[in-house]
Amino acid sequence: MSEAEAKSEDPRVEALHERMAGYSLGGHWQERQQAPALVPHLWPWAAIYECLMESGEVIKLGHVGDAANRRTVQLVNPAITNLKSTTRTLQMSIQLVKPGENAECHRHSAAALRFIVESDGGSYTNVDGEQMLMEPGDLVLTPNWTWHDHHNPSDTNVVWLDVLDVHLAKYLDAMYGETYDQGQADNANYFEGASQTVVYPDGYCRLRFGVARPPQDQVDPRFVPYTYKWRDTRATLDALAEADVSDPHDGILLDFKNPLTGGPTMPTINCRAQLLSPGEETRPHNHTSSTIYHVVEGEGVTAVGSGKNGSRDLAWAEKDCFFVPSKSWHSFKNTSKTDPAILFSVSDKPVLESLGLYREERA
Ligand SMILES: [Fe+2]
Repeated sequence: MSEAEAKSEDPRVEALHERMAGYSLGGHWQERQQAPALVPHLWPWAAIYECLMESGEVIKLGHVGDAANRRTVQLVNPAITNLKSTTRTLQMSIQLVKPGENAECHRHSAAALRFIVESDGGSYTNVDGEQMLMEPGDLVLTPNWTWHDHHNPSDTNVVWLDVLDVHLAKYLDAMYGETYDQGQADNANYFEGASQTVVYPDGYCRLRFGVARPPQDQVDPRFVPYTYKWRDTRATLDALAEADVSDPHDGILLDFKNPLTGGPTMPTINCRAQLLSPGEETRPHNHTSSTIYHVVEGEGVTAVGSGKNGSRDLAWAEKDCFFVPSKSWHSFKNTSKTDPAILFSVSDKPVLESLGLYREERA
């Protein structure tokens, strides 16, 4: 509230404001500071990758000295650089684990997922004792409170997208974690510990939680450690493209479903893959969830927004990342006449839906 606005013609109002401020009270009629509107933004892969590789030279990873517990480059929305957040709810970062390195074991209340960008297939994440191999395009879930450590025994770098609901967890004062060897840690002050032993082989989750599965399982269905293999996702996209089963606003669209409930990928984060056929242009829509995209392959343009969130044409190419804010009209165009474009995306849609706050408008 500006000085001029704070003044009222009636001196009693000003006196009331001062008295209330002294008691940590406020009047509904008084102005308040508005949170900035998030803006559409594109992060070119070349810039991300350059900084990530440089971080590999200067930032150590591990349990020694000033080493980082995770080596990630974080996507920051230009409207909230002070918060260093991609969105109000989600954080997308890009992680590098070099040959021979390990990112040691911990768990936290924030849910996380990994979408693999570069790998020769030899790296893996151990989630609650299961070895989950990381091949390009694979989606590995480390739900709320699951133990996880990352290993690169291969000869080449492994690079993946990390997505966490950490900003939502922090907003709700519900962010906490602990290390594997620590057992119980101080809240929000955890340190890296040892690695887990591999108990279950790669692929075990897809058998245990498959369509033929034990009638009872001790796992909480909201927090299922799981890997979606890209070879399956890609085959499904191609089959549906062949059958021309297309959504007018998103092209060929897949939700990564929770294998037990059929609901969203995790309670706070939904993941999608979509294929835009050569030359395809979608119709615009907007919704109250906000979405971060990663270009798996191809090139195109996403026209984003009108009104106070700003308006931009985001021109993207392979591996770029971009953000579409809540309530922004957006449409997609595959600018190639010969090749499909494939996008992976994450959103906070399940949160909005569970709170009755999800709305969508379609043109
Ligand atoms: Fe973690």
